[in-house]
Amino acid sequence: MELNQIRSEFPILKNKTYLNSCSLGALSQRSMTRLREFQDIWNSHGASAWYSTWTNVIEELRSRVSFFLGAETRELALLPSTSTALSVIAECLDYKKRNKVVCTELDFPTLAFQWAVKPDIELVVLPTTDGVKIDPQQFADAVDDKTALIATSHIFYTTSYIQDIETLSDIAHQSGAFLLVDGYQAPGQIPVDLAKSSVDFYTTGSLKWLCGGPGLSYLYVRHELIETMYPRITSWFAARDQFDFQLDNFEPHQDSRRFEMGTPALPTIYTALGGQECIDEIGIEKIHERNTWLREHLIAQLLAKGLDLTVPENPSDRSAIVMIQSTQPDKIVEELAQKDIIVDSRPGHVRASPHFYNSIDDIDHFINCWPR
Ligand SMILES: Cc1ncc(COP(=O)(O)O)c(C=O)c1O
Repeated sequence: MELNQIRSEFPILKNKTYLNSCSLGALSQRSMTRLREFQDIWNSHGASAWYSTWTNVIEELRSRVSFFLGAETRELALLPSTSTALSVIAECLDYKKRNKVVCTELDFPTLAFQWAVKPDIELVVLPTTDGVKIDPQQFADAVDDKTALIATSHIFYTTSYIQDIETLSDIAHQSGAFLLVDGYQAPGQIPVDLAKSSVDFYTTGSLKWLCGGPGLSYLYVRHELIETMYPRITSWFAARDQFDFQLDNFEPHQDSRRFEMGTPALPTIYTALGGQECIDEIGIEKIHERNTWLREHLIAQLLAKGLDLTVPENPSDRSAIVMIQSTQPDKIVEELAQKDIIVDSRPGHVRASPHFYNSIDDIDHFINCWPR
């Protein structure tokens, strides 16, 4: 697709300079068309649409996303949020022999919260020494034969840093622990191939770089582990005989559907399909290449303006999240919003995150409008 064609797919770009895809990916024409399809069938069929259409559409999404992540369809569960996906895994594990969980201070809080609320768990939160990354040696030093799992991010939302999840899975596995990766900031902006990795659990979702909207997360569980993980919080969607309606007969699915938690948000299933189609059509390699180019241009312009950044030193460790240091991030975000430029703030920073639909002109406009 030509850039103009891509941009016309995302109506928000007509009126806004949109540089906030790591919070919420832009809505596409395809997602809107899909959403109208959902409304039409709801109007025309009511609940009978479950049998004629909706279960198939759910499986269409599962299969498209599995393929995109390099996973098998049986390895992917659909859940309402990353927090729910993390809770499901946190509840499945047995902490009797191993009660230690290792995460980092750069991870999203909901990841640490899953174990912080469990009184019997020893939660180790690794500190960052340079404010950007965690050295793999810190994980190696923290993990021992009491460790149940390392739970950490693929890309730190705080600093843009891409962690080497293969090294982390080696560290976890050498001590007999699992590796759980919160990948919310990765698929859609960098290539991810779970079949080639030895990660045990991986969560991501439609909201951000996959341009699919809120209400849906994807939980990958490596196939050898699925049947060893008995769900401790559950639902009728997890039951093998979902329509049996026998209260005394809970037998979980043999695949990852055993981790599911009730009726999925159908509007998001539809919008997520639209977003995923856009990503698949352009191709993740091209998106990654383009986002790298946009990011490096953005970083160069910000540095030329004399601004201080919190970004990884080595460009190959960087993703398309750019953290600009500021003592008044909220004020700057507000001032830019007055000029129709959408970015976000995090403590001590303004955060800009270009995606494939952005242009060099968007970046230059953002730079020119940065408050003096
Ligand atoms: C890295 C990361 N993990 C988890 C979350 C939270 O996801 P959810 O609201 O789906 O639980 C976010 C949300 O912004 C995030 O950036």
